Amino acid sequence: SRTVARDAAGTVTVGGLDVKHLAEEFGTPAYFLDEEDFRARCRAWREAFGPDADVFYAGKAFLSRAVVRWLHEEGLNLDVCSGGELSTALAAGMPAERIALHGNNKSLDEITRAVEAGVGRIVVDSFQELVRVAHVAQAAGTRQRVQIRVTVGVEAHTHEFIATAHEDQKFGLPLAGGQAAEAVRRALKLDGLELVGVHSHIGSQIFDTSGFEVAARRVVGLLAEVRDEHGVELPEIDLGGGLGIAYTSDDDPREPHEIAGALRAIVERECAAAGLAVPRLSVEPGRAIVGPTAFTLYEVGTVKELPGLRTYVSVDGGMSDNIRTALYDAEYSVALVSRTSTAPPMLSRVVGKHCESGDIVVRDAFLPADLAPGDLIAVPATGAYCRSMASNYNHALRPPVVAVGDGTARAIVRRETEEDLLRLDVG
Ligand code: LLP
Repeated sequence: SRTVARDAAGTVTVGGLDVKHLAEEFGTPAYFLDEEDFRARCRAWREAFGPDADVFYAGKAFLSRAVVRWLHEEGLNLDVCSGGELSTALAAGMPAERIALHGNNKSLDEITRAVEAGVGRIVVDSFQELVRVAHVAQAAGTRQRVQIRVTVGVEAHTHEFIATAHEDQKFGLPLAGGQAAEAVRRALKLDGLELVGVHSHIGSQIFDTSGFEVAARRVVGLLAEVRDEHGVELPEIDLGGGLGIAYTSDDDPREPHEIAGALRAIVERECAAAGLAVPRLSVEPGRAIVGPTAFTLYEVGTVKELPGLRTYVSVDGGMSDNIRTALYDAEYSVALVSRTSTAPPMLSRVVGKHCESGDIVVRDAFLPADLAPGDLIAVPATGAYCRSMASNYNHALRPPVVAVGDGTARAIVRRETEEDLLRLDVG
């Protein structure tokens, strides 16, 4: 986050506030999110893509009512992928026409609520769903704007579980073999639908622009085929999210203007070659906007040195507030933030308090050898897919998200309580 600093005396501050005071006020573990950084990233994406494109923030990365308000104020649109995300978006005042609904198995209820709310777009993922959306829209007396999700067949260089453009997977309809073209054919015939474009999302945590460029080229290729076959020029393409961020100093992320420039150049060139008008472009960054804006603050509970192996540092959270290390072998860094230390570095593994040996937050890290119970340590870049994938495993209470900035801090999502857990038990 841009507002974390360590002064000459070694005090770490966030948005001007001493991290030790934040821990006292909000407890640990907790996520601290820099609101100004979030807004600055929104603006950077808007400015990079300009007025002829739309930026849809991917709500799955992290969503709350406050976040929806910030997005609205900064001129972003919102991609939701469930009824829950849709409700949050609408409850916080995001205009329905700026919302896109995603998902490979949207329920009839989710489709109906989206159509009735008047969402700007539904991204359709299957032949069956085309018919389903068309029926719901007709019953509601409207035509729903839809895009068709296609798989372009590129190999994104990322973890298998978060790569989504190869054909053998659950999302989208493949361009190769003609299913995507067949979906267009069917969509154009359905009265309840207004087919506005094609959607491709190639995966997540991607560092080079070439996969996006191949996707853009193939999607424009489909638009040209559609024009040749049906005499229709679809007005929109969406190239999804997926831009990587720096979790450790080894990562070298692209900036929004780099990806915007690369995509625009490809789309314009390919459209010119095919004699197509340039469609309206949209993208769906999640991680790149919220990921770097937050860190997780933990308190060290025990320090166990295994001679000749390493030191296990147990914190008061773990896989319930950050599943990414266990699930994707994700790498994080960690720092002691409650004091300075001149002790030599020791090879450490930061682990949680859950009943699983895979409950690892940071697999390999160097922490000062005098690390002790009560020290506070911070794990940066936990704004995306940590709180949103948090669980109550072992009846853990999910941590709060605290927005910091301008010398103030306020919870935008409060900490869960044991009453919250018990409230769900009805037996
Ligand atoms: N658009 C679509 C259609 C998506 O499926 C996703 C992510 C995004 C946009 C946003 O991607 P981003 O810019 O945030 O990479 N839980 C995993 C990531 C799964 C992403 C799923 N879809 C993780 O923690 O890395």
